[in-house]
Amino acid sequence: MLHGCSGCGYFNKSQGNQCVFKDDAVNETAARMREADGIILASPTYFGGIAGTTKAFLDRVFFSSRAYFRYKVATAVSVVRRAGGVDVYRQLQNYLELSETIMPPSQYWMTVFGLSEGEVLQDKEGIQTVRKNARAMAWQLKVIDAGKQAVPAPQAEEKIQTNFIR
Ligand SMILES: Cc1cc2nc3c(=O)[nH]c(=O)nc-3n(C[C@H](O)[C@H](O)[C@H](O)COP(=O)(O)O)c2cc1C
Repeated sequence: MLHGCSGCGYFNKSQGNQCVFKDDAVNETAARMREADGIILASPTYFGGIAGTTKAFLDRVFFSSRAYFRYKVATAVSVVRRAGGVDVYRQLQNYLELSETIMPPSQYWMTVFGLSEGEVLQDKEGIQTVRKNARAMAWQLKVIDAGKQAVPAPQAEEKIQTNFIR
C-alpha cells in the first residue's frame, strides 16, 4: 500500500531529504533517481488523469527530492486507450517543470494508444514520437556530459516563496 503525500515537510528537517513514510519504495526510488543522469516518467490514463497510486508516488518523490533533479534530462509519456492521454502527459510534465529539468523535444505530445500489453506498438505515429524523444534525450545527455566542464550550470538561487493569501 502506498501512502499519499501528507504535506508534512518532514523532508526539510530530515537527513538527506527523506520522505516521512519509510515503509514503501519512495525513498529508495528517489535515491536512485537522484543518482541518475536522466528520468523518464510514465503513467496510464485513469479517468483522464494520472493513475492514483502513480500520483501518490510522484507527489512524494518530487516533494522530497526535486532539488536533486535540477538540470537532469527528463521526459514523460502517457498510455491511453482512447482519450485523456494529453492531460496525463501534461500532469507528468508538471513534476519535471517544477524540478527545473531539461525536457527533450519530439514531434507531438508524448502519448501512445493501447489497452492490452504490446498494443501500443501498433500506434506507429505514437511510437515514432517516443523514438524521436528518446533520441533527443540521449543526445541532450551526451551534449551536457561533453560540455559541463567548459560551460558550468547556472548557480542555484535561494528559493523565494510568496503565498497568494490576499
Ligand atoms: C480505472 C481506469 C480508468 C481508465 N480511464 C481511462 C480514460 O479516462 N481514458 C482512456 O482512454 N482509457 C482509460 N482507461 C484505460 C487505460 O488507459 C488503459 O487500460 C491503459 O492504456 C493501460 O494501462 P495499464 O494496463 O497499465 O492500466 C482506464 C482504465 C482504468 C483501469
